[in-house]
Amino acid sequence: MVIEPRMRGFICLTAHPDGCAKSVKNQIEYVKSKGSVDGAKKVLVIGASTGFGLASRITSAFGSGAATIGVFFEKPPSEGKTASPGWYNSAAFEKEAKSAGLYAKSINGDAFSDEVKQQAMDMIKADLGQVDLVIYSLASPVRTDPKTGILHRSTLKPIGNTFTNKTVDFHTGNVTQVSIEPANEEEIANTVKVMGGEDWAMWIDALKAAGLLAQGAMTIAYSYIGPAVTEAVYRKGTIGRAKDHLEATAFSITDSLKDIGGKAYVSVNKALVTQASSAIPVIPLYISLLYKIMKEKGIHEGCIEQIQRLFQDRLYADGGIPTDDQGRIRIDDWEMRDDVQEKVAALWERSTTETLPGIGDLAGYKNDFLNLFGFEFAGVDYMADANEMVSVESIP
Ligand code: NAI
Ligand code: NA
Repeated sequence: MVIEPRMRGFICLTAHPDGCAKSVKNQIEYVKSKGSVDGAKKVLVIGASTGFGLASRITSAFGSGAATIGVFFEKPPSEGKTASPGWYNSAAFEKEAKSAGLYAKSINGDAFSDEVKQQAMDMIKADLGQVDLVIYSLASPVRTDPKTGILHRSTLKPIGNTFTNKTVDFHTGNVTQVSIEPANEEEIANTVKVMGGEDWAMWIDALKAAGLLAQGAMTIAYSYIGPAVTEAVYRKGTIGRAKDHLEATAFSITDSLKDIGGKAYVSVNKALVTQASSAIPVIPLYISLLYKIMKEKGIHEGCIEQIQRLFQDRLYADGGIPTDDQGRIRIDDWEMRDDVQEKVAALWERSTTETLPGIGDLAGYKNDFLNLFGFEFAGVDYMADANEMVSVESIP
């Protein structure tokens, strides 16, 4: 069938299989163009189908020749209905990996559950023996605690005071004021439960207990800090509490891995258009200004550029892994440069529905958003019939 984008709020209900395949191919080409990285050879990626996790899987496989197991939660296609983009991305990834002679298998299910952890461990045991790198890149609005069975829901709210600032509806370009009421204690705790480090530690504990982590194994999770304008709703809001918890968890995981010389790190990444970030108020306006400035300065990066740089210049560079005074790896360094942030702050003041198309990169935002779903890629014939019934080879 001919597949077109069908929008509803922050999401697109359709995805294009050929466009997603093109996206994966473009990312593979980018990684190859940067040369090889002497990195991990057996990699587990939790949250492997989109965004930073997919970029991590591609960088591991095509930068370091790694065997990869990818865990994700995506919707397969059904007759006349497209799959979610991460499904098509993963199908394309496996195909490309296979033709490059690389092992790649995937698990589609709830990574927070004991069952999916067990499934991944069985797969590692049977096929790889051990892993030497575990990427933890989940972004989810909900988590069922496997111990209690309770479903926790995260919220994106400020803490303490009502937050009022500008935001943009990137579909219409309308810049408006948004006010968000502060979270209560329960909402804060729930957000930490979903997006904090508890599940990351559970994965690593389980893998270690089963003897599936190689000597010197590393594990990485992703965090965000960002500028003053988003602070109240992001870093000092509910999601920020979860990130604080995630960052603290890196230290406790490192402690638990002492006897095998293992280490856990958090990498602070750049603000980018992903399905997760487009749902956060205020962030899309910030991103559209940030993109404009970083593109002008020639320092704009997408997920794949960020993660390739993380692997090549940080994780596997000579001379150890550089971190900030809180032990975090910083690949948001270009985003946070003074000359970039000063310009964003100045443009923020001036941004209105009328000025934004000129002073911000709203077009770039929209393009990246459509790209997430496999639309707007050069070299894809969107008028042609596409086969939506694509399978991920390793998934029965
Ligand atoms: P994303 O939405 O593109 O990817 C999320 C991944 O998690 C997908 O593979 C999805 O299938 C998987 N997933 C979600 N729920 C799952 C479940 N229950 N079981 C198994 N898999 C599940 O998100 P993105 O943006 O790549 O985020 C990844 C991490 O990077 C998050 O921790 C996020 O906070 C962080 N980050 C994101 C930034 C951004 O601007 N997008 C900036 C800095 C950090
Ligand atoms: Na991801």
